[in-house]
Amino acid sequence: MIQHLIEEHRKIQSLLNILKTQTYLVEDSNVHNALALKEIMHVIKILARDLHHHKEEAILFPLLDELPQLKNGGPKCTLFYGIKMEKNFDAKIKKALLEEPDVIAPPAWIDITKSLHDKNSPLKIPLDEHDYGYYYVNLISKEIQRYGEDPLRTHPLIVLLLQFVDLMEFHIKKEDECLYQVALTALSSEVLCEMRGQALTLDQSKAKELELVDLVMAKYSN
Ligand SMILES: [Fe+2]
Ligand SMILES: [Fe+2]
Repeated sequence: MIQHLIEEHRKIQSLLNILKTQTYLVEDSNVHNALALKEIMHVIKILARDLHHHKEEAILFPLLDELPQLKNGGPKCTLFYGIKMEKNFDAKIKKALLEEPDVIAPPAWIDITKSLHDKNSPLKIPLDEHDYGYYYVNLISKEIQRYGEDPLRTHPLIVLLLQFVDLMEFHIKKEDECLYQVALTALSSEVLCEMRGQALTLDQSKAKELELVDLVMAKYSN
């Protein structure tokens, strides 16, 4: 299961690299790439939110939440906690949302996600980051629309895209090096294997969407 999630991280990172290339092109007045940005953001949403975060929130996190290792102080993420404070993701997303009050809160994948939010679990940190990612996808979609209508309106879009990529890259690195390491040492191989089966079932139910992800990746890869 953890290897499956790590492989998804690599695929999300490839999409983020494509998104970064397109972000730098927004500054170029000879290029108007609103359609490319729209297509890339659409498949990032499919892969990151609808599949990857769905698996973490519905399959992995409920089991992690039962672990004493997590309850007794949580994973040793001190280094990442310091970086998180420095990057101040919370303030950035709050500021962006203040300017777009009609962006709605993300629906939870399952009920336990809501209860984790309520009881101050250490998992609240990655869950909040998932929510921020969802907000960014919506904020960026609005800004792409405006950029589509006015090619000179580039600055707000670039700011949001760079913040989104920064958040996602930080989140992926933190899970690879911290949260997933706790899961690997604390969960039995039987449990991990069963979770992998559930993850593959979810992939099968989204086979068409995954095909689209691959198509868009191939279209915009060099
Ligand atoms: Fe995550
Ligand atoms: Fe993840």
